[in-house]
Amino acid sequence: MPALDDHMVDKHGRRMRKLRISLLDACNLRCLYCMPERPVFMPQKDWASTKELTHITRNLVALGIEEIRLTGGEPLMRRDFLEIVDELSTLPIKKLGLTTNALLLAPYLPLLQHTKLQQLNISLDSLNTENFMRITRRDAFKTVMDAIFTAKTLGFAIKINTVIMKGVNDHELPAFVEWSAAHDIPVRFLEVMNIGVMRSQFQKRFLSAFDMKTMLAADYQFSRLNDKSDSTSRNFRVSNGAEIGFITSESNPFCTGCSRLRLTPKGQIRPCLFMEEGIDLKSLAPEDYPTALASIIAMKPTRRIPHQPQPMYQIGG
Ligand code: 5AD
Ligand code: SF4
Repeated sequence: MPALDDHMVDKHGRRMRKLRISLLDACNLRCLYCMPERPVFMPQKDWASTKELTHITRNLVALGIEEIRLTGGEPLMRRDFLEIVDELSTLPIKKLGLTTNALLLAPYLPLLQHTKLQQLNISLDSLNTENFMRITRRDAFKTVMDAIFTAKTLGFAIKINTVIMKGVNDHELPAFVEWSAAHDIPVRFLEVMNIGVMRSQFQKRFLSAFDMKTMLAADYQFSRLNDKSDSTSRNFRVSNGAEIGFITSESNPFCTGCSRLRLTPKGQIRPCLFMEEGIDLKSLAPEDYPTALASIIAMKPTRRIPHQPQPMYQIGG
C-alpha cells in the first residue's frame, strides 16, 4: 500500500510506527528531575476526552501506527483510564504499553489482564525507601515494589526505567544490576535529560551511559543484545544474568532511527519531544489526517535539539 507509506515515511526514510499518548500532565509523585515541588497542572477540562482519544488513535492507526504507549504525568490518575484501554484494545495494533510510576497500579492489574495492555514500563529510581523518598518527594516505595511483583506474578511484560543522577542514585547502579538478575526483570538506565526543571542542574547531575558502564565494569561483563533498529535503548546481558539497557538520550540520541509521534493531553500531535509545534487533532476530519501527518512528519528533526523548556510531564515521558 504505497499511499500509506507516503504519509508515514519521511524524506530520510524514517517510518513512523509508534505513538506515545500523554493522557494528562498531573502526577502523584514529584520526581526531582521532572517536576517542581508545586507544579501547576492544566485544568481537567483541557484533556482530550475518551471519545476524542479514540477518534484520534483510530485515524492514526488506519494510517500506519502499530504500537501505542500511554504515558503522563501518571496515566493511572485518569478516572477513564480503563475505558481508554478498552477502546484502544479494539484497534488492530501490535502492542499497547503503559509507562507508570505504579503507585495506583496494583488494583488495576487484574482488570488489565484481559486487555491488549500487556507491556508495563515502571519508573523506579531507587531500591531504598529513603532514597526513593528523596527523589520522588513521596513515601511510596513499598507500594511500588509490591505492584511490580504482583505484575510480574500475573504475567505482564515488565521493564524498569531508572533515571540516574550523579550524587543522587548513581551509587545504586550495582544494586539494580543485582536486583535485575535476582528477579529476572530488565532494568533500563536513563541518562537524565536536559528538559524542564533539569535545565538549571543538568551539569551537576548528568551522568553519561558510558560513565555508568565504566562504574560497573570492574564487577560485571556485558554482552550486547540485538536491538531493534528503532529501539531507544542499547541492551546488554550482564555476566550475573541481568538484562540491562542504557537510554542515551543525551550522549548518543536515537533521532536517526526515531519512529515515534507524540500526542499531548490536549490532543495535539507533535513531531518530537523537543518541539513545541504541533497540530490539534481533536476536531480534524479523517480525510484531513494525511495532510496534517505529512506536515508533522516533515518537521521531525534528524538531530537532537539541545534542550526543551517545556517540562516532560506536559508532553509525555
Ligand atoms: N530525564 C529523563 N527522564 C525523565 N523522565 C521525566 N523527566 C525526565 C528527565 N529530565 C521520565 C521518567 C519516566 C518517564 C515518565 O519520564 O523517568 O520514566
Ligand atoms: Fe511523575 Fe513520572 Fe514525573 Fe516522576 S517522572 S513526577 S512519576 S511524571
